[in-house]
Amino acid sequence: MKTIGLITSGGDSPGMNAAVRSVVRSSSYNGLIVKAASRGYQGVLDNDIRELDSDSVSGIIQRGGTILKTARCKEFHTAEGREKAATVLKSHEIDALIVIGGDGSFRGADLLSNEHQMPVIGIPATIDNDLAGTDETIGYDTALNTAMVAIDKIRDTADAHDRLFLVEVMGRDVGFIALETGISIGAELILLPEAQTKTEEVISSLKSILKEQIRSSIVVVAEGNGTGGAWNLADQIKDDFSKYDMKVCILGHIQRGGTPTARDRVLASQLGHAAVKAAIEGHTSVMVGVVNNQIKLSPLKMASSKKKDIDYDTLELSKILQ
Ligand code: F6P
Repeated sequence: MKTIGLITSGGDSPGMNAAVRSVVRSSSYNGLIVKAASRGYQGVLDNDIRELDSDSVSGIIQRGGTILKTARCKEFHTAEGREKAATVLKSHEIDALIVIGGDGSFRGADLLSNEHQMPVIGIPATIDNDLAGTDETIGYDTALNTAMVAIDKIRDTADAHDRLFLVEVMGRDVGFIALETGISIGAELILLPEAQTKTEEVISSLKSILKEQIRSSIVVVAEGNGTGGAWNLADQIKDDFSKYDMKVCILGHIQRGGTPTARDRVLASQLGHAAVKAAIEGHTSVMVGVVNNQIKLSPLKMASSKKKDIDYDTLELSKILQ
């Protein structure tokens, strides 16, 4: 093992840079060279690859986004694309590829490994926190805090006007951000993709929570919650809540940016180091994660195919505290 390949792939998440720094410095500590491609698999296909040394990752641990840039690459979904990628990686004498990303990126990595005997190690980084095999993904804690701070501000103005706000947070398939943000801001109602709540149920729950009182109320809506997002929901319930001054706010990509929290920086540093160690030990098609405060390796197949369940006790708690 002499050379490690490195990419960040899929949606960016705060802490990816801390993971890049950790992979580069841990590799250097172990006498390995790191060659990184820009814009994920696309950069591999374009042969846009450069060597990174310890100095080149100075001053990035506190930065959101990713210095390597990232992309969602359609060509890599094809067998021809992966064959081309393997040829490029081998031409750089890359012995193992470390992929910092989410489930889609890991599916591609697993195929690359199986089809072309390229050892791959995944580092879980997505604000969604939806990967089985790790208690937390890099970027989730930052996104949660960003959403919480934003909704605290919305609460101030909602209180001042006694308004009803529908606030949409990210989470197409899973509701980790919605659930924990909702609890942290004292949401009146939380709507998750896991529940796929029908509009009639939203109306009856909200009516029983509001009890006809005009007061500030916040409904946290995960983007994939089943009612078609906050704007659609507002449209569907406006007649039932006509006496309320209802507003919609979509937090959107603000949740993906910003300086990573301490927790995300530490997690990224631990997982970057664990990924290099796993590569040196000859593991392949595994994702490094932290489970009960211990580093754990899980098959990439599991991480990329099985969505992590939300904690149903926490969901119950959110209802008790409404
Ligand atoms: O997977 C991370 C995520 O931020 C999701 O929560 C969201 O649905 C999606 O990415 C948005 O992707 P894009 O930035 O490509 O529109």
